[in-house]
Amino acid sequence: MTSSSTSFSNRITALFGIDYPIIQAGMIWASGWELAAAVSNAGGLGMIGAGSMYPQQLLENIRNCKAATSKPFAVNLPLLYPDIDQHIQTILDEKVPIVFTSAGNPKTWTATLKAAGITVVHVVSSAKFAKKSEDAGVDAVVAEGFEAGGHNGREETTTLCLIPAVREAVKIPVIAAGGIATGRQLYAVMALGAEGVQVGSRFVATPEASSHLAFKEAVVAAGEGDTILSLKKLTPVRLLKNPFQQRVAEAEFQGADEATLAELLGRGRAKLGMWEGDLTEGELEIGQAAALIDAILPAATVVQQLWNDFQETAAQPFYQS
Ligand SMILES: Cc1cc2nc3c(=O)[nH]c(=O)nc-3n(C[C@H](O)[C@H](O)[C@H](O)COP(=O)(O)O)c2cc1C
Repeated sequence: MTSSSTSFSNRITALFGIDYPIIQAGMIWASGWELAAAVSNAGGLGMIGAGSMYPQQLLENIRNCKAATSKPFAVNLPLLYPDIDQHIQTILDEKVPIVFTSAGNPKTWTATLKAAGITVVHVVSSAKFAKKSEDAGVDAVVAEGFEAGGHNGREETTTLCLIPAVREAVKIPVIAAGGIATGRQLYAVMALGAEGVQVGSRFVATPEASSHLAFKEAVVAAGEGDTILSLKKLTPVRLLKNPFQQRVAEAEFQGADEATLAELLGRGRAKLGMWEGDLTEGELEIGQAAALIDAILPAATVVQQLWNDFQETAAQPFYQS
């Protein structure tokens, strides 16, 4: 196997001060400080997912992460978060070096964060919003395709089509997300013009992820076709198929309106599924890459495997018969 210590440098590794262009996605109910610190210590960029945390929890996660790693780490901040002012204040007070914003307008907070010396990245699912993010002053964009777990773009653009379009639209570095769980896929998106990858689903199946073991085991057991993009009338989200998702699908098939779907979803569904491990009634956010995940592995092993496989592929990119 090719040595994992081979040095690599591009705009993404330089921007974040990391060894490998591998970013662990911010994920509600999955990415607390243990996962973020483990990934950062392994040479990637670890990220705390603030979207499922109360302000005090975010503060504790940031402090624990700082104690567990001396390497750079990031916080993911979905801009629809109700107590966003408090989260922003915590990020500023704690001098978090890197923030990935998502699910909202990058114009709202980018200037405030940048004025504090923070590196800012925004998540988009189209070339149009990539350009808007660049105009808002972000340092890089994550281009997240249809395969991705969690909330997703309405246009259903696949990673394969999205990355070249975003690459063409902006000058800032592009980080590819959606469907990436192997080094060979990392190589493929770099060939398309990405300079790094944001990986979510693969990191759910690690001991360091804070989600429930039953959810992690369901991710490992999932095969082709076991996820589906749901709730397009509300906020599109890719879910593992289960009885709750089935009820949503039936309601959608019968033409349910937004209010009916919102009532069916109710409150706390994601926590019930991913944190409490209710595989029947919970919302289980995961990407198509679940079909490629066949073991729960330490986060550092995931980083090393991605990088080793990337290097092996770079040495011999095409399968030979
Ligand atoms: C369980 C789960 C929770 C997620 N939560 C968030 C979130 O809070 N904020 C966000 O910007 N993206 C979220 N995402 C999307 C990821 O950040 C990432 O872009 C996506 O997982 C990449 O695709 P992949 O799952 O195929 O690797 C979530 C994804 C998953 C699987």
